[in-house]
Amino acid sequence: MASGGSLSALCLALLGSALLLAVRSIASAVPGQDVDLSRERPLELKMDQALLLIHNVGGESFTVYWLSDHCYQCLYQRLVIVPGAVTSRPFNVAAVPVDSQHPVTLQLNDTAKNQEMCRVHYSFGEFGNYSLWVRQSLFGGVRAVSCELIVNKSPVSSSLPILLAVLFYGGVGIIWTLGYFVVRLGPVRNWIYKKMNPVETDRLINSELGSPNRADAGGQGAHPGAWSSSVPQRLRSLDTFRGLSLIIMVFVNYGGGKYWFFKHESWNGLTLADLVFPWFVFIMGTSIFLSLNSMLRKGCAKWRLLLKVLWRSFLLFLIGVFVINPNYCLGPLSLSNLRIFGVLQRLSLTYLVVSVLELLFIKAMPNNFTSGGAWAPLQDVVMYWPQWILVILLETVWLCLTFLLPVPDCPLGYLGPGGIGDFGQYPNCTGGAAGYIDRTVLGEEHIYQHPSSNVIYQSTVAYDPEGLLGTINAVVLAFLGLQAGKILLFYKDQHNQIIRRFFIWGIIMGIISAILTKCSQNEGFIPINKNLWSISYVTTLCCFAFLLLLLIYYLVDVKKLWSGAPFVFPGMNSILVYVGHEVFENYFPFKWKIDNRSHGQHLAQNLVATSLWVLISYVLYKRRIFWKI
Ligand SMILES: *[C@@H]1O[C@H](CO)[C@@H](O)[C@H](O)[C@H]1NC(C)=O
Ligand SMILES: *[C@@H]1O[C@H](CO)[C@@H](O)[C@H](O)[C@H]1NC(C)=O
Ligand SMILES: *[C@@H]1O[C@H](CO)[C@@H](O)[C@H](O)[C@H]1NC(C)=O
Repeated sequence: MASGGSLSALCLALLGSALLLAVRSIASAVPGQDVDLSRERPLELKMDQALLLIHNVGGESFTVYWLSDHCYQCLYQRLVIVPGAVTSRPFNVAAVPVDSQHPVTLQLNDTAKNQEMCRVHYSFGEFGNYSLWVRQSLFGGVRAVSCELIVNKSPVSSSLPILLAVLFYGGVGIIWTLGYFVVRLGPVRNWIYKKMNPVETDRLINSELGSPNRADAGGQGAHPGAWSSSVPQRLRSLDTFRGLSLIIMVFVNYGGGKYWFFKHESWNGLTLADLVFPWFVFIMGTSIFLSLNSMLRKGCAKWRLLLKVLWRSFLLFLIGVFVINPNYCLGPLSLSNLRIFGVLQRLSLTYLVVSVLELLFIKAMPNNFTSGGAWAPLQDVVMYWPQWILVILLETVWLCLTFLLPVPDCPLGYLGPGGIGDFGQYPNCTGGAAGYIDRTVLGEEHIYQHPSSNVIYQSTVAYDPEGLLGTINAVVLAFLGLQAGKILLFYKDQHNQIIRRFFIWGIIMGIISAILTKCSQNEGFIPINKNLWSISYVTTLCCFAFLLLLLIYYLVDVKKLWSGAPFVFPGMNSILVYVGHEVFENYFPFKWKIDNRSHGQHLAQNLVATSLWVLISYVLYKRRIFWKI
């Protein structure tokens, strides 16, 4: 079994160098940077930009405005003025960089009269070279304008590195799986056992260190051994789920190859990056319930547990403040712009609220739960009615604050990004009540300064995506995660019941989301929004979480088709991986100097860094080192 592990370690170790090689060839295909058409100064394209040459042939001067399709209800922004023709120069050219991430609309207005001459909708490609020919001619006093867009040089294919990465990791996965089956064949297995140090195996199986008790080296989980059946066995699916979210989180925090769909959505909507933090909160809820229950069953007093919860929340908050104010070797940190809230702080508050809520009302669950009565099918909910009432109250507080709190100079219940969004009417209202509360309570300097909305929506005010108001919804989500824990414990070993319930919860959450968002990105009652942690965001992610957990539970714990590797390793050491990846973010081998304009090189770097954390957590797991607070 352990040899299956070393095989995986080998694969992961090979990964970095191979990926680098694969991507270096793409990087060399990036086109030259010298653009001398604008004569005054050479134009250097950045990542995700294309070159557009606008030719004004024989006519009036015009102004080009642009708007990204991704910007919802935004103002047109001025791109460039192309002067009219003079006798010495029959036509003028302006060279400008344009965004290649999303399709854009170009609006050409007569500079003098500000009248629209023509409009072009186009999807530019990265590092492409395009020409827009604007020909103006006079026919009997009436001006005719023709606009034609041609491609001078085709764009590079920016997403090819993703395909390569998928193929590479897919290949590694297949080789690993094959290796695993070969290792499990009888003769091979015996041979390996003889070769391996038997003491080591014994130590691993009989280890009483650390909390991962059921997890043995090879990931088959076949040795529950000394654990009495009343103690809930550690579910590998929970660790796998947590590890999966954590690893995606590390990947997107490191930059996600600088692709927009691996970064946070600028305002409403969902990208891969927006999925993972809520999943983490969700699975934390599940674990809280299982661990509180097992502690109570071991005879731990409630007040002791409460103290423990308080202490852990405090520690988590403190670590969060350290991690989020990186100041290594940069001189003394200025307290006047210390950021207070962040990911770990939100986890800490959520953990605190949900655990206290649960501790207030919890009774150790009886071993043999007998069902009966009219409410039997809903007993896993009905039994916890006081908690449900409190959580619904909390959600009401969120709704009231969000929609009824008057914010100076902003409309009531504003949920938009500010900046140039909403046709530039409320530039300083980013995040509505949520932003206002943070700026008032914590102070402008103590919150996050670069919200994702300042890219596309060009908002200028500070806004904290991990602020105070959103924490309420994080609590709601963790509480729904807790429900998953309740289901797991109530219907222990009744796989069908568990799977059915997960499915039903997922569907219910999906229906709520569909209603709240009217199945649209921007037009719903409450759009899905990571920056606000809107309630529709919570229900949507909860829907996904139930369904994903169902799948992983089925594969890992019911059918035992998958050991959960490699995600299960970081999942068991989540705090260490999270803190570690933040602290060492800027150091080799997690970061090195690369061509800043190449998606391929960024992707390679981020994947190597992420894989390294998987590898590190695997090594720590083999050595039974787990950082718990
Ligand atoms: C873009 O295309 C035009 C027309 O073919 C050419 O003159 C110009 O040099 C090209 N610019 C770059 C940077 O390739
Ligand atoms: C361009 O002109 C049209 C009228 O023809 C006007 O509605 C529009 O606002 C102008 N665009 C900008 C950005 O001023
Ligand atoms: C928004 O804030 C900026 C900077 O504080 C200020 O200059 C601007 O006038 C404000 N805009 C509105 C509409 O209040």
